[in-house]
Amino acid sequence: MPQFNDRVTALQVPGTRQFANKVSQYENGINLTLGQSGFDAPDFIRQAMVDAVEAGKLRYTHNKGLIELRTAITDYTAQRFNSEYDPETEVLVTNGGSEAIDSIFRAILDAGDEVIIPAPAYAGYEPLIQLLGAKTVFVDTTATHFVPTAEQIEAALTPKTKAILFNYPTNPTGTTLSADVIQSLVQLLKDKEIFIITDEIYSENIYEGEHHSFIEYPEVRNQLFYINGLSKSHAITGARMGYILAPEYAIDQVTKVHLYNSICVATPSQYGAIAALTHPNSKQMLKHMNTAYIERRDYLYDRLTQMGLPVERPTGAFYILPNISAYHSDSFQFATDLLEAEQVAVVPGAAFTSYGEGYIRLSFASTMEEIVEGCNRLEKFLKSYPKQ
Ligand SMILES: Cc1ncc(COP(=O)(O)O)c(C=O)c1O
Repeated sequence: MPQFNDRVTALQVPGTRQFANKVSQYENGINLTLGQSGFDAPDFIRQAMVDAVEAGKLRYTHNKGLIELRTAITDYTAQRFNSEYDPETEVLVTNGGSEAIDSIFRAILDAGDEVIIPAPAYAGYEPLIQLLGAKTVFVDTTATHFVPTAEQIEAALTPKTKAILFNYPTNPTGTTLSADVIQSLVQLLKDKEIFIITDEIYSENIYEGEHHSFIEYPEVRNQLFYINGLSKSHAITGARMGYILAPEYAIDQVTKVHLYNSICVATPSQYGAIAALTHPNSKQMLKHMNTAYIERRDYLYDRLTQMGLPVERPTGAFYILPNISAYHSDSFQFATDLLEAEQVAVVPGAAFTSYGEGYIRLSFASTMEEIVEGCNRLEKFLKSYPKQ
């Protein structure tokens, strides 16, 4: 047999999907693993995609994306954060947040470079870093309510640090960053020859106060990659719609990776994205979804607390991460036992780096009925599950 690339062979399949796949085999299974909105994509986005297809808009676009879309992105971001980005030179439309992350890593990392990431963290980052022969340096946030401090980040810096990646609101913890924390991180990182990558894919899902972003700080503009997308916010994960805002010199490099990798994002998806960012009903739709998520979050938080599981109240995204270490030190085993006993699927915390061990992730993108039933079954399960 011909041999595969060593770094690819060493990669593991992500732990996040396993339990969702297994629960679908049970007739009465409850799936609390959803990593995407359970709402249907809004009509006006679907219609814009259909119109694009019917009008035959199926050719390549500019590598960076349709200029109308790039303008919609910079206008939308300017309204939210008072930022100034040039749609001609400082925006790249990517195949979801995923390709944005991969293309940035490939544009900046050499073998041996280090990327600092607060953890527990989304499982999609480390494998991409490993593929490049670079190294992930996780910063443990479990003792600081999942919020990284400037001191922790400073202690992780080495001469090999090439980038720091922040993901707030966070998958899997649902944590957001206050303006004060961002300010202290900006103070630490400005003027250092280190890239800041901010993955703000959940930034529309904020349940307390306003979303704050690194993009609000001109001091770090020249070293910042701002990633966002419409997968989570607008319930269109399948459209593969993400984007990067960064200074021209950085977009130029990342665009080279992107154009060789995928030329451009699917043209009908780009038309759907223009509708998502500009349609008058869009804001209302986001509010409607968030109202439902808040109700589900509050219910889940109260139930988990009543069950005696230590848990932080999420302020963003649609995940909650209770601590189950009193029952089992191995979250995969705990999730397996829960699935077998009660047919409830959750994601083991260990799927989100070793710092997630001792936790499970539940999604409140699932329906209220599923959440209620899932909580009833989890409660029943815990009553007979021996504590360690
Ligand atoms: C933190 C985070 N970033 C990026 C992504 C990828 O999103 P997309 O579907 O836009 O590629 C996900 C998906 O779960 C995520 O949780």
